[in-house]
Amino acid sequence: MTAYERCRVLLRFADLIEQHNDEIAALESWDGGKPLEQSAGAEVPMAARCMRYYAGWADKIHGMVVPADGPHHVQVLREPIGVAGQIIPWNFPLLMFAWKVGPALACGNAVVLKTAEQTPLSALYVASLLHEAGLPEGVLNVVPGFGPTAGAALCSHMGVDKLAFTGSTGTGKIILELAARSNLKPVTLELGGKSPFIVMDDADVDQAVELAHRAIFFNQGQCCCAGSRTFVHESVYDEFVEKSKARAQRRVVGDPFKKGVEQGPQIDGQQFKKILGYVKSGVDSGATLVTGGDRLGSRGFYVQPTVFADVEDEMKIAKEEIFGPIQSILKFRDVGEVVRRANPTQYGLAAGVFTGSLDTANAVARALRVGTVWVNCYDVFDAAIPFGGYKMSGVGREKGPYSLGNYLQTKAVVAPLRDPAWL
Ligand code: NAI
Ligand code: MG
Repeated sequence: MTAYERCRVLLRFADLIEQHNDEIAALESWDGGKPLEQSAGAEVPMAARCMRYYAGWADKIHGMVVPADGPHHVQVLREPIGVAGQIIPWNFPLLMFAWKVGPALACGNAVVLKTAEQTPLSALYVASLLHEAGLPEGVLNVVPGFGPTAGAALCSHMGVDKLAFTGSTGTGKIILELAARSNLKPVTLELGGKSPFIVMDDADVDQAVELAHRAIFFNQGQCCCAGSRTFVHESVYDEFVEKSKARAQRRVVGDPFKKGVEQGPQIDGQQFKKILGYVKSGVDSGATLVTGGDRLGSRGFYVQPTVFADVEDEMKIAKEEIFGPIQSILKFRDVGEVVRRANPTQYGLAAGVFTGSLDTANAVARALRVGTVWVNCYDVFDAAIPFGGYKMSGVGREKGPYSLGNYLQTKAVVAPLRDPAWL
């Protein structure tokens, strides 16, 4: 297929996603339990935006002619890498589909995509829309299945040329190993995080409280880039804790299909138990339970919006990824101290910095070893902004032009340039 045709297929696909916004959003909320308003208002439109972004790239990917030393004509070609194996998680099934499938198809590859066992529906549905948009049969193959069987088979397969994965750091390591043991296929990984959300003494406290709340509680706390360590300057700490408590208590938890609901149930019983285990660990290690701390009601995997204060760096709740609606607030005294405490974690996905000073924002943004720093904002995503992690939060970048290199091979074609007899 020509590059322009690929562009047109992806543009038609984006239109179809928008036309079916409500059905896709309903599937997404049904499968994963996230509030329908968020699926319909954010996840589905962002997936369409991502497809249009990569549609725009399809006919702008090209090589170059290099002025090498000596009488040679040197072309550098950019070719599709081949068959891309993609494994996605359950927290943002449709968006992860878009981040992975968009660049792979724009670059002219074929795809085998494995959905998470909890959430196969939206990918299966939009795959049929992609077919309707004109993608030839066999180019995109959605395989729902279990990780250790279907997922591992994809990672080990000798006919798969590239792997892209989003999920836990532990599974990411297994995937790298499987790739190494089979055909050394290149792997990009987008893994876990323990992202600091830093509130300086000159921040707008009310804005910081609200955004810190959303940074941790959004999507039931099931975000790789959740602001899961809320660092607050001592001069505003007490006020911040009081206001965070009030905000958490106002959070509307319930049926994801009801209007105005901010938080639905956790994805499954396993995650639900894991989260409540972390709450117990927080209490046992001496953190102050400010609000919440238990399941909500007696049916379904609902967790009370929970806030811990007086959290210390070495506590498990400050170190490990909880992936639930649990906020941990830590106190700091000066900027140098908070940077020194924010960095020593195995993760390095994202961070938030709240300050009225441009100098502080710039200096802290450069000092943090993370893939994304949000200044006086959080969770701002666009298809054009690169995303990925330092350290054990990942390998490589997705989105923006950075995804393209993951799905292309580079070929040098070198031929002699001879002076013709007539010269
Ligand atoms: P997981 O990383 O095991 O699952 C994610 C995907 O990997 C799923 O599609 C799964 O089927 C697949 N998978 C699992 N084992 C595999 C294997 N051996 N080979 C190939 N593919 C495999 O995550 P899980 O178990 O659902 O959740 C555990 C924890 O991971 C969560 O509590 C959370 O901390 C973290 N997580 C992070 C995500 C992120 O966005 N970075 C997304 C989901 C989970
Ligand atoms: Mg797992």
